[in-house]
Amino acid sequence: MAKKDIDWSNIGFGYMETDKRYVSNYKDGAWDAGALVEDSTVTISECACVLQYAQTIFEGLKAYTTVDGRVVCFRPDLNAERMVDSAKRLEMPVFPKERFVDAVVQTVQANIDYVPPYGSGATLYLRPYMFGSDAVIGVKPANEYQFRLFATPVGPYFKGGVKPITIRVSDFDRAAPNGTGHIKAGLNYAMSLHAIVDAHAKGFDENMYLDAATRTKVEETGGANFLFVTKDNKIVTPKSDSILPSITRRSLMTVAKDYLGLEVEEREVFFEEVPEFVECGLCGTAAVISPVGCVNDHGKEIKFANGCTEIGPVISKLRETLTGIQMGQIDAPEGWIKEIK
Ligand code: PLP
Ligand code: COI
Repeated sequence: MAKKDIDWSNIGFGYMETDKRYVSNYKDGAWDAGALVEDSTVTISECACVLQYAQTIFEGLKAYTTVDGRVVCFRPDLNAERMVDSAKRLEMPVFPKERFVDAVVQTVQANIDYVPPYGSGATLYLRPYMFGSDAVIGVKPANEYQFRLFATPVGPYFKGGVKPITIRVSDFDRAAPNGTGHIKAGLNYAMSLHAIVDAHAKGFDENMYLDAATRTKVEETGGANFLFVTKDNKIVTPKSDSILPSITRRSLMTVAKDYLGLEVEEREVFFEEVPEFVECGLCGTAAVISPVGCVNDHGKEIKFANGCTEIGPVISKLRETLTGIQMGQIDAPEGWIKEIK
């Protein structure tokens, strides 16, 4: 085993082709045995359901090198479960949970030389996804599907790493009530592209989406959930049926409560409460927990008292503890770490 010659500390959040990916096909009502393949391209019908009607779902998780040199993944069983929920909502066949976790293990093993070294700040991002692959022209689910999982080494999602970012309140909605905001469907991201390009063009790093029905409650950004800190150090996170149930957010709530002794609350968060919070973070696999320094509400700036120019103390402690657990410096709760042997 020889690590690839990559400048690990300076890679961004981008795609880099690696050696092997896992592929399994669904046909005649059953998944085939699945295998690792070298071909990084996909050949499908010009009329494939994914191309016409966006029947595609995905997941995202990471493999890390621990302080003692082991390679581990973080809670892949929860990604497997969420993909089951996503599949059911888009009328796709379920890829079995055990097979999902096995595909993660096989893909990491096959690309072990791409797992960034401990301390580099980079990780191996894993992207499982599934799409309707056969031709449909009437609006209906496909009959055939492909599940794929590739790996790509990545650096920080937000340039600047732990420097607080500035976000704006979006006038575009991300998810409808009773829609698909709670699952990881490609269509949720397609409809966020205009909003993110527009935000970047206006100098903002991300969008804060409000609930589409009343536009009074905080939902999430295009790729991460919110955590807020009150002046009494309580952690508050929005509860909504139209946001993605982030695995990082669920883990951070446990970390806050059980490791840091903080009070945690998952509840509706009204936008008018935002100025009362002293710190704000965006959490997700890609974002880990990235500090937000300022929210721009149509020209009116809300600056977080303890985290405006530098990462605040509570978000910083949460980040340190979670990454410590992921990198093996801090004991993890039972079942959180899947070692790749
Ligand atoms: N919210 C959205 C819309 C996302 O795309 C993601 C990324 O996966 C998250 C939240 C964070 O979820 P997780 O922590 O499971 O990666
Ligand atoms: C992740 O955090 O894994 C995501 O999927 C967010 C974004 C890259 C879509």
